[in-house]
Amino acid sequence: MQHFRSVKDADDIQMLLKKAMSAKANPLQKNLLGKGKTMVMLFFNPSLRTRLSTQKAAQNLGMNVITMNAGQGWQLEFKDGAVMNLDRAEHVKEAARVISQYADFIGIRTFPGLKDQNRDYGELILNQFIKYAAVPVVNLESATVHPLQSLTDWLTVEEHKKKARPKVVLTWAPHPRILPQAVANSFVEWMKKADVELLITHPKGYELAPQFAAGCQIEFDQKKAFTGADFVYAKNWSSFSDYGNSPTVSEDWMITTAKMSLTNKAKFMHCLPVRRNVVVEDAVIDSANSLVIQQAANREFAAQAVLETLLEHIDT
Ligand code: CP
Repeated sequence: MQHFRSVKDADDIQMLLKKAMSAKANPLQKNLLGKGKTMVMLFFNPSLRTRLSTQKAAQNLGMNVITMNAGQGWQLEFKDGAVMNLDRAEHVKEAARVISQYADFIGIRTFPGLKDQNRDYGELILNQFIKYAAVPVVNLESATVHPLQSLTDWLTVEEHKKKARPKVVLTWAPHPRILPQAVANSFVEWMKKADVELLITHPKGYELAPQFAAGCQIEFDQKKAFTGADFVYAKNWSSFSDYGNSPTVSEDWMITTAKMSLTNKAKFMHCLPVRRNVVVEDAVIDSANSLVIQQAANREFAAQAVLETLLEHIDT
């Protein structure tokens, strides 16, 4: 694995899962593997979980970590051939090369602008860093995917499943803001490779991009979708077809105790942060079946599995 952009970069996802489980059992077992190596993390957007869990994972492997809030004041130009006579003072061409002088890995966290579908789905920012950096790049959530979250989610499902092939329902939920599709896209991408029965439920108009949703079961009736579910994964996303918008939904899509009672005592999952009593009712997220804190804890071990694999690659 040279870079970690998405599940497509993972040569062996079963091995990643195994490494995450092993890291969880003994986080410091490889604390010399990254000795003398530095990870620089650039956050173009705020983060609690990704930032702290990836830093902890890198430190567990003996690495140094430098984190930069790149979204504040640093006006970076990403377009090749740009005439830089406006507010953007530095080109990614120099920035990525300069950071590579200090870093053995570069982590990038960037959200989509949700205005230009081609730019977002072309992953301009992540791909320009990969193009110009001299070291491996780790996706800490990009415009279209959040692979460290999805590996975490898969680990969490594996730990809590009670049958070989559980029914996993990804459900759209309401939100007051226009949010990316990244977590949902990525969850689908990883769950398609896991041994689960995946079903996606969302209102009409909220179909995910065809390259992610292809081959998935879709159910527009949320209650029907919940029937017999072993896991309910809630997430809001804005419309892909009506890009940058969230068309009004008249029905109530919030996850409630009444809806969860239709499931097979399903575990509730969400990547966090979550809007209580908008996305999910307090009684569900606070119930014994809620896995949201366990998910957040697993972020450390998913990140550790990925960093360990990249460290092994650069050492060979
Ligand atoms: N789930 C997640 O990526 O959380 P943060 O935005 O806090 O990193």
